[in-house]
This record gives sequence, C-alpha cells and structure tokens, in this order.
Amino acid sequence: MNKGRVAVFLSGRGSNFAAMVRASRSANANFSVCLVICDRKDAPGLKKAARFNIPAHYISPKQFPDKAAYENEICAHLQREKIELICLAGYMRLAGPVLLTRYPWRIMNIHPALLPSFPGLDAQEQALRYGVKVSGCTVHFVDAGTDSGPVIAQRAVAVRDDDNAVTLSKRILRQEHRLYPWAIRQFFAGRLQIRGRNVIIK
Ligand code: GAR
Repeated sequence: MNKGRVAVFLSGRGSNFAAMVRASRSANANFSVCLVICDRKDAPGLKKAARFNIPAHYISPKQFPDKAAYENEICAHLQREKIELICLAGYMRLAGPVLLTRYPWRIMNIHPALLPSFPGLDAQEQALRYGVKVSGCTVHFVDAGTDSGPVIAQRAVAVRDDDNAVTLSKRILRQEHRLYPWAIRQFFAGRLQIRGRNVIIK
C-alpha cells in the first residue's frame, strides 16, 4: 500500500507528533510521518524526531526577510519529501498565503478546546476562567484565521471542579492523541469532504 506522506510542524514538546508516529507504525496504517518542521531550536519535539529517525529541520523565521520567504524555504523541504498533508501540532504560528496556496485544504491543526470556543493561546486556561463544564479538543482544516477553519472532528472531556490548567490539559491531551491520528487516517482514506464550512465524513 502507498502510504500518505505527512509533515508535522511543531514548536514544543511534540507529544501529538509522537502519537502520530506511533499510529503510523501500527499494523495497517495508511500514512507515514516523513518530515518535521520546527521553528524553535530548543523544542523537545526535535529530540523526539531524532529518536524516531524522522528527518527534522529547525527553520527560524528570523533568518528570512518576511513570512513568504520563510514559507518558501519550508515548501522546498515539503516538495523534496513529496508531502501530501501538513499537520500542525503545537506549532505556534499562523500559516501564511504561501503555505495555504500550495497546500489548499491539506493543512490540519489540533486545538485544545471545542472550537469555536476559546481559540488562540492558553485555551485550557480560557475554558477554566469561563467556567465551562465541558471542554475538549478539535481537529480542523487550516485557513487564514486563528483556529477558524472547518472542523473535522471533536472530542469532549468533563471539566472538574478541582481542575487546574495542568490537570485539564492532561485529560484533553489524552483525547488529542487519539483524535489526530484518526483524522489523518480519514483524510488518506479519502473520507473527508469539505462542503463550505462543513466537513462530511463519508
Ligand atoms: C497541544 O495541546 C495542542 O492542542 C496545542 O498545543 C499543545 C501541543 O502539545 N495547540 C494549540 O494550542 C494551538 N492553538 P504537543 O507539542 O505535546 O503536541
């Protein structure tokens, strides 16, 4: 079977990346994580990539005159590796026009809240401050906005009275690690159809 070729973009820990790699190495997986792009030199995710033996590139936006030049450099790596799907996993930057044009509806993101609630930074803290009783995670296609693209899948978790950002983040993360590989599998099985804002799972 020809496996779908995935690049993961990350800025930090890389636990979602690790969950994807593990899923991709299980029996009958239909995708393979072929490349990591990272914008932070000290990101623990880079060490994980080395342990998994997956090519990883630290590319600092500061080395480029503008976002277009930065993303053109990234695209050169993506093309070399024949990447078909980009998965943002704790990548703390917005995709710009270069990436969005070259990979239309081929960029996914995971967010630790039930969008459209609590987009942007510190989603778990936002949920706790608001006082919701249920939160969760969302995998969505990426558009030009912040966490605003069409929703592919969501998982809910209960918010407990004694939760803090750490305990809630942990509970959500367990669901993230299941949901993201599932969404990637659906993508490469050809089951995701975008109709306006709605993603239909065939
Ligand atoms: C995850 O919780 C992910 O949902 C979140 O960053 C964390 C990265 O963890 N992403 C965002 O908040 C994006 N808005 P990881 O590096 O261990 O996968």
